[in-house]
Amino acid sequence: MFESSTIEAGSKSEFYHELAEQVASMLQGEPDEIANAANLSALLFEQMPDLNWAGFYFLRSPDELVVGPFQGKVACVRIRVGKGVCGTAVQTKQSILVEDVEAFPGHIACDSASRSELVVPLIRDGKVLGVLDLDSPKVARFDADDQAGIEAIARIYVEACEATEA
Ligand code: SME
Repeated sequence: MFESSTIEAGSKSEFYHELAEQVASMLQGEPDEIANAANLSALLFEQMPDLNWAGFYFLRSPDELVVGPFQGKVACVRIRVGKGVCGTAVQTKQSILVEDVEAFPGHIACDSASRSELVVPLIRDGKVLGVLDLDSPKVARFDADDQAGIEAIARIYVEACEATEA
């Protein structure tokens, strides 16, 4: 049974290095995409300071995301591709770092406490499977180091789930 341990890192790169090791160890040998998404949301929510939402949206049809496992308040269930931060990340196949959600046209407010957001697409063989979405009640909570760290963790997730291609 995996047990998380509190990360006491001096720098963000050390923090993400340690977090990635915990994620790899937690997901090792488990290919189920829902089980892994559930545990990864829980681990990120526990380890990362200043989050009010951490979770997944999966592309269940070519033009629509559906909410998956998450930690935080009840969220919007369906998001059209091209809409909001999540739908835009799917359309562009790029991570989106939003310093101030009020300045992002079309941002979808699921939890009114959210002030900044980081959305990273989950990509396997060039195909988008969904997104990993983190929200914070603090403006500019996420920077380029967070983006790189979460992108690496998203890759570990996608690789762990390799055997359950939908
Ligand atoms: N803010 C997102 C919607 C999902 S929630 O933040 C959980 C968006 O604009 O796509």
